[in-house]
Amino acid sequence: MTELHWEGKYKDGKKVAPVRLALPFQTVETINESAADRKRNLESLFGNPNKPTEWRNRLIWGDKKYVLPSLLPEFAGKVNLIYIDPPFDTGANFSFTATIADHPDTDEDETTSFVKEPSMIEQKAYRDTWGRGLDSYMQWFYETIVLLRELLAEDGSIYVHLDWHVGHYAKAIMDEVFGYENFRSEIIWKRTTAHSDAKYYGMNYDQILFYTKSEKATFNTVYQPYDDDYIARFKNSDPNGRKWTDDNLTAKGLSGGGYEYEYKGAKSLWRMPIETMKRLDSENRLHFTSKGGIRLKRYLDELPGMPSQALWLDINAINSQAKEKINYPTQKPEPLLERIIKASSNEDDLILDCFCGSGSTAAVSERMKRRWITCDLGRFSIHTARKRFLGIANVKPFVVQNLGKYERQQWMVNELTLDGGLKNASEVEKRAAIENQYRNFILELYHAKSISGYTWLHGAKAGRLVHVGSVDAPVSNDDVKRMVQEFWKTVGKNTDQKSNGIDVLGWDFAFELNETASQFAAANKIDLKFKKIPREVLERKAVEQGDIKFFEMASLGLKVKTSKNQVSVTLDNFMIPPDDVPQEVQSKITHWSQWVDYWSIDWNFKEDTFHNEWQSYRTRQNTKIELTTGKTYDKPGKYTILVKVIDILGNDTTKAVQVEIKG
Ligand SMILES: C[S@@+](CC[C@H](N)C(=O)[O-])C[C@H]1O[C@@H](n2cnc3c(N)ncnc32)[C@H](O)[C@@H]1O
Repeated sequence: MTELHWEGKYKDGKKVAPVRLALPFQTVETINESAADRKRNLESLFGNPNKPTEWRNRLIWGDKKYVLPSLLPEFAGKVNLIYIDPPFDTGANFSFTATIADHPDTDEDETTSFVKEPSMIEQKAYRDTWGRGLDSYMQWFYETIVLLRELLAEDGSIYVHLDWHVGHYAKAIMDEVFGYENFRSEIIWKRTTAHSDAKYYGMNYDQILFYTKSEKATFNTVYQPYDDDYIARFKNSDPNGRKWTDDNLTAKGLSGGGYEYEYKGAKSLWRMPIETMKRLDSENRLHFTSKGGIRLKRYLDELPGMPSQALWLDINAINSQAKEKINYPTQKPEPLLERIIKASSNEDDLILDCFCGSGSTAAVSERMKRRWITCDLGRFSIHTARKRFLGIANVKPFVVQNLGKYERQQWMVNELTLDGGLKNASEVEKRAAIENQYRNFILELYHAKSISGYTWLHGAKAGRLVHVGSVDAPVSNDDVKRMVQEFWKTVGKNTDQKSNGIDVLGWDFAFELNETASQFAAANKIDLKFKKIPREVLERKAVEQGDIKFFEMASLGLKVKTSKNQVSVTLDNFMIPPDDVPQEVQSKITHWSQWVDYWSIDWNFKEDTFHNEWQSYRTRQNTKIELTTGKTYDKPGKYTILVKVIDILGNDTTKAVQVEIKG
């Protein structure tokens, strides 16, 4: 068979296959879950782990390189439709425009925006794709398509949205993976109006390659508007403007006879009995010609349209005024997705898009009563999509997931190598050695020096001590207590280690790690700083380039009031440590609340996962955000309220508060 070759396709005579490591997903948030469903899920979690839980649509934050193989164990052969719109032109796909809303006390519209440059990890993904030009893109695309084909059901379909940059190479790869015989159409979508500045022919279209896994694929006829020539045939119109053309009603020349009678002076051999003729007349569907004949009126607005062809001229790109526009540069129009989803799936079918962007595929799937899974590696995409889904009336409950600690554990095992001398050591010793290496690695990135002889304190930097959180678990209140105790028991007395503070580095921080830890530290006269270990640490390139930054956690102030069975929560303050933010953004923010893009509350956090039960967020149409909300509890008791804030840069900060409801 004719085959496309690129550098890196074969190694030792074999095609290089995609990574097939299946990692478990972690649910970091559920959205719109009812109290009853939540209780049921909790029971099945703790009661019978094998009891199947109900289907939840899934928004996954992660690289498709890890997400797709991790979906295989559960979904191989089960996805009915895939639509992807992979990045294919420049790295610009990764930058995003963040919006700063008005100061809450002004009435004028002073909303401004700024472009947030891609994060290291996004740039890394871009380099993976384009690092060696077209060759690496081809390999990246090939690996994606191989896994997607495995996920598709036997009667499933895939649509790949591309343009002239790589579209024709992609066609060759799709033929190789899906089989030439399973190619169905190349849809040409006219994306823009004419480019008057083009030197040659204006490139005003995208290509969408449509393949099915087999002959058995689902396909429902979809319709496009008629073209102008066809519409021109509807020359007549009723007084109310309805356009129609006329059609013969006589049965002359037809085999099979007809009905001979006279109706309103017109005698002929008709196609239908007189009762039908009377009914059509009463419905104003008859046209009495000037020559005394009767013809049938065919109304344009009653015809379904033209069965869709591969040339799509009738769907407009999203313009700056479009209602659906959400400031995501590569957002595709909903009518485009609607046509694809209607044609190649049915209600309840499962639809996958591993390049979620602003979430168009999932949003339309949701509206059309399909199930969906979508992923993206960009923080801003996940945040944009979550808000978009929340804006859909009666959106079904969905979950936000990632591969969190499993990805990190994998990294620790793969990237950190054991000292040769430990070959015969016990598993516990090996693990301790790897963990030690891991901590030293993080300390080095943090430009701290490693110290020994302590359990909870691992390094020192600029007069402060440093704790490195484990890859497996969030830093907890207990961890903090132990660090502080160790600090005073040992370091405090030791004149060599003069320090009044600890920098606590962690991948995650326990939700309840709030004032309790800080108050405890303050009471013990220790200044604590919590800093996030960035995900870029896992990326060798980022590490080599020395681009790793440890950002201090934002601080979130809440006012909580209880009265009988009611609680009110007010966002009182929100501060992002200043060195994390571009100067031009700092200068535009005059009130702390302008940092907040979205906040949500779990009124009864149960140590399982964050259940989003209430939220307020800014949209393009409504840039205002509520700062106070309340809840009436049904039963007295002690509750943990968890508040999550997402700032305009897409980072989240969570805080827990305890309340007691007396009833
Ligand atoms: C062209 S946009 C998709 C736009 C989307 N169709 C919409 O209507 O909003 C491509 C998306 O792919 C994401 N992306 C790029 N590389 C990725 C990867 N390796 N894994 C997951 N997502 C990736 C980017 O963050 C970007 O959001």
